[in-house]
Amino acid sequence: MNVLQEEMILPNGVILSNRIAKSAMSENLSNKHHEPTSILINTYKTWANSGAGLLITGNIMIDSRAIGEPRNVVVENRKNITVLKDWAESVKGTNTHLWAQINHPGRQAMEQINSSLKAPSAIALKTGGRKKTTKKIPEVLSESEILEIIEAFANTSIILKEAGFSGIQIHGAHGYLVSQFLSPYTNIRKDKWGGTLENRSRFVVEVYRKIRERVGPNFPVGIKLNSTDFQKGGFSEEESMEVVKILSKEGIDLIEISGGTYEAPAMMGKRKESTIKREAYFMDYIDKVRQITSTPIMLTGGFRTTAVMQDAIASNQLDIIGIARPFAIFPNIGNEIFNESQADFTTKIKKTGVKAIDGMMNIVWYESQIKRIGQGKKTNPKLSGWSVFFNYLCLIIEQKLIRKT
Ligand SMILES: Cc1cc2nc3c(=O)[nH]c(=O)nc-3n(C[C@H](O)[C@H](O)[C@H](O)COP(=O)(O)O)c2cc1C
Repeated sequence: MNVLQEEMILPNGVILSNRIAKSAMSENLSNKHHEPTSILINTYKTWANSGAGLLITGNIMIDSRAIGEPRNVVVENRKNITVLKDWAESVKGTNTHLWAQINHPGRQAMEQINSSLKAPSAIALKTGGRKKTTKKIPEVLSESEILEIIEAFANTSIILKEAGFSGIQIHGAHGYLVSQFLSPYTNIRKDKWGGTLENRSRFVVEVYRKIRERVGPNFPVGIKLNSTDFQKGGFSEEESMEVVKILSKEGIDLIEISGGTYEAPAMMGKRKESTIKREAYFMDYIDKVRQITSTPIMLTGGFRTTAVMQDAIASNQLDIIGIARPFAIFPNIGNEIFNESQADFTTKIKKTGVKAIDGMMNIVWYESQIKRIGQGKKTNPKLSGWSVFFNYLCLIIEQKLIRKT
């Protein structure tokens, strides 16, 4: 047995059977009404046997008026409780926790499929380089809408707990709504929800408190948080550490560290030269954050070799190794990590050669592999970027038509 197989006891007493976690990956596998499908559930049945102690679902939307991708699952009422129970049961009989990641995309909602975008401030997303594609300007959330969203986070959490998921993760990273509130670049509000860090972190604190109030003290609630959003004038490392302190004091159970936004996608590896030398992307930050909190820490981004993963745990730099893309290619990865001390799980997407399309390939190509897992097929590292792109385009058009009728 190696260190990665050691169990992890969270402060509330919940036990994770080992140190390997599948980090959230949007599966884009709901049906067109945003309900979980059997393909989605089958994927989790496979991952349940991957050896990982913790699986975190892809982001589940808390509000059908704000959707990130055409086939995201939405949970805003008990209409689909039966199929949600089936999803939660996918890990039954294994030693694997299944936590649901919940999210509101704010200004990063897909504008083609949402009738309006709402965000803390009216600052549009810019993707594809500094001067290119400036997206739609979001509407500013009113105080009552903010309170409604906080309530929606809690409502989705209690439904998912009832369905049998064994924990909740708030998506507080990658430039989605929680992270938009935290960042001075996207939050220039003058009321109690903007300005000082205390004000900008009010939203995430209220979301956490409301969820905790509903799910009770013993149910795991975690967060995925940016170390920084890698943008000038954005959420800095120092501010991130302050938020870690605040949430630790509030009693959050697990903090997963990532970084970046759609505008600066550091979570996918576009990072500073100085950090490239280290396999895992945000290791420098981890070293600092470890000094200021005793809350368990998970790190995601770049982990590929068993040796580096083992070293990170053995040296007590962090508690849980988060892995995303390799799970889409190596569905049995946990067991392989435990059995092979020199394994390397590097993955590489097939691009189309068209820059504007390849920007999204890092997500959609992996989603196509996840779908193959759910269909009982072998993953295919040679899968063509073009076929993936056309399938995705069809999903967007379909969703656009549905939302018009
Ligand atoms: C297909 C795909 C979908 C993703 N969806 C989510 C998501 O829903 N929520 C989230 O927090 N991160 C999401 N991510 C980011 C991953 O969780 C992770 O932070 C990132 O891929 C870096 O980890 P890795 O190097 O192990 O892949 C997604 C990544 C991919 C490839």
